[in-house]
Amino acid sequence: MRGFVPTQSTTVDLMVELLFREKWPDETDRILDPGCGPGAFIDGILRWCEANNVKTPQITGVELDVERAEKARKKFAAIPQIEIITSDFLLDKVKGPFEYVIGNPPYVSILSLTEAEKRQFRNHYKCAVGRFDLYMLFIERAISLCKKDSTLVFITPEKFTYVQAGSEVRKLLASHAITDIILLQENEFPGRTTYPTISRVRISATTDNTVIRSRDGARFTTVLPNTGESWRHLLSSRKLSEVTGTLRLVDFCHRISCGIATGADAVFVKELNELPENLAQHAWPTISGRQLQPTTSTVKTSSVILIPYTIESRLQSLEDIGELGTYLSRSDIKSRLAMRSCTQRKPWHAFHDAPQMSDLLRPKILCKDICDDPVFWIDQEGLVVPRHSVYYIVPSNPRHLYLLAEFLNSDPAKSWLSSNAQRAANGFLRIQSSVLKRLPIPEHLAHNLLEDQITNLSLRRVQKSMRAEVLKVA
Ligand SMILES: C[S@@+](CC[C@H](N)C(=O)[O-])C[C@H]1O[C@@H](n2cnc3c(N)ncnc32)[C@H](O)[C@@H]1O
Repeated sequence: MRGFVPTQSTTVDLMVELLFREKWPDETDRILDPGCGPGAFIDGILRWCEANNVKTPQITGVELDVERAEKARKKFAAIPQIEIITSDFLLDKVKGPFEYVIGNPPYVSILSLTEAEKRQFRNHYKCAVGRFDLYMLFIERAISLCKKDSTLVFITPEKFTYVQAGSEVRKLLASHAITDIILLQENEFPGRTTYPTISRVRISATTDNTVIRSRDGARFTTVLPNTGESWRHLLSSRKLSEVTGTLRLVDFCHRISCGIATGADAVFVKELNELPENLAQHAWPTISGRQLQPTTSTVKTSSVILIPYTIESRLQSLEDIGELGTYLSRSDIKSRLAMRSCTQRKPWHAFHDAPQMSDLLRPKILCKDICDDPVFWIDQEGLVVPRHSVYYIVPSNPRHLYLLAEFLNSDPAKSWLSSNAQRAANGFLRIQSSVLKRLPIPEHLAHNLLEDQITNLSLRRVQKSMRAEVLKVA
């Protein structure tokens, strides 16, 4: 069953404390735990009631998974105030209203849903927009089962606070009183890379401020807008003003550009394990935006691109590239290449745009051209050729690679990019070189970068031997 991630008891206790902070429950109050699993939050409520000498309120757990629901039912069989319903919280009827809601809803991305499920959710839920996740719909459903002054406490991924797909959830939550947002450490759920967040909301109440506890331990208040715009910069203790340096990213970079456009990737790009041996000498590791995976910070790829250009970016003649020339001259391939509009004024085996080989093959930072959250990867050796759906940033000084990548992946830089990049379809961000170039570099970082001396690496030599290694190993 998808979406099962148990909550640790210390987190459960913290959340139960938050739930009852303003008003203790009485025995007639109803508490909902949607996606209750085997009952971690119900255990937590019972612990709290016992510790505070409070009579057990009415508790309803809703769980889709039959085995987990049965486990919870058995565990709490002796307590009449507790009912466990085996049901689909999103599609079946659960009778409200509830005075309290607490839970850890399933994190299930739209990518794991069938077309029929997506359609069904889009018909039922206002928050089912863009690349939504089921936990967003759990929030919407839970709020619909509450009444004035009910309190909700949820633990979810932090993503809803800034991705475009979270805009409707942000609008919905901020139309009530979001009293607290607690950003937890990445290792809260062992083995998962989700950044979890606890949100506490009071229905139909008003509040001027939300108390934020950020990951670095800072505590401050902020006002969360109900317009749907990203809250990212408002949840960070480091404010956007930190990125108002006078120097820009472009001042520290040799090049900021879009990757190679061949106009015929089906011809030039191959999986390494399908690459004929006789073409290996013309192949370079390559990556597309889709292949950049959030689980790694360095670039990993199994694709290669066949490049008929010299390292000085000169298009070679078909005779000069031997076996590659023979491959490209095959009638089916030649006609495919000749069909490209871009070859009207250049040789038919040229790329759509002439590649700047000496820049492409430098240590660099990569990012997707379209994304919901800007993330930056490092190609330390400068061996990977970025394709058209990838932007690459070549620092003027290769030693600045990690410093710049760390800054680009920081909250202030991401906030700045989110606010300044254009929006693509579905609210995704379109990262363009013009925007990247304008990114302000904070004074302290600019100072460090300027102090450093430029070193000249004999890159070509190192790369040549490393490319041979990469291709041999794979
Ligand atoms: C992240 S787990 C949390 C389990 C438990 N509440 C805890 O905190 O340890 C989410 C739970 O929601 C359940 N679930 C997933 N989709 C559901 C749905 N549509 N209706 C009810 N429960 C669902 C999963 O089976 C899973 O047990």
